[in-house]
Amino acid sequence: MNNIKNQHNIKILFSKKKIAHRITELGKSINKYYYKKNSTIILIGLLKGSFIFIADLCRKINFSNKIDFITISRYGNNIKSNKKIKILKNLDENIHSKHVLIIEDIIDSGNTLNQIQKILLLQQPKSISICTLLDKPNRREVDIYAKWIGFTVPDIFMVGYGIDYAQQYRNLPYLGKITKKI
Ligand code: IMP
Ligand code: MG
Repeated sequence: MNNIKNQHNIKILFSKKKIAHRITELGKSINKYYYKKNSTIILIGLLKGSFIFIADLCRKINFSNKIDFITISRYGNNIKSNKKIKILKNLDENIHSKHVLIIEDIIDSGNTLNQIQKILLLQQPKSISICTLLDKPNRREVDIYAKWIGFTVPDIFMVGYGIDYAQQYRNLPYLGKITKKI
């Protein structure tokens, strides 16, 4: 009766297997890039959406690293995210003079990462790079460059593999497109 799953259709776009394969590729590319940096890299996951992605990706990484998380909220509660962000949980690590890799679930308008980058830059890290699982380039409102992108998707609403709709569907092992049942 109250089951939210009855209200939506979810079409699988990237299977569990496809995601695992892509994460192995991303891991190899990230390892190659940071291999010569010869310092401890700080991986920063943006909660909650990146929790499964960072868990899988970090196990492909073979250089010295520390893992930290930031939790933010956006003012308001709708899908459009052209909003100011508020930090609910800040970093535990000091990132001054450190290489930082931000791990994000989706880049949509780019507003969230744009603001997070500005906040992190105040701490003067040595570098900031971005790895996002999903990218929706058609939706971009501000310029954001992600060095690593899992999959590029059009303007559709995605769920699963950590990504939610109204806090639900994060546990789905695949990535799917969600639509309302009529
Ligand atoms: P941006 O600030 O517009 O780039 O928004 C990025 C954030 O909006 C992501 O980290 C997600 O939390 C959320 N978001 C954007 N698109 C989707 C989607 O298709 N499904 C679920 N969340 C999304
Ligand atoms: Mg997010």
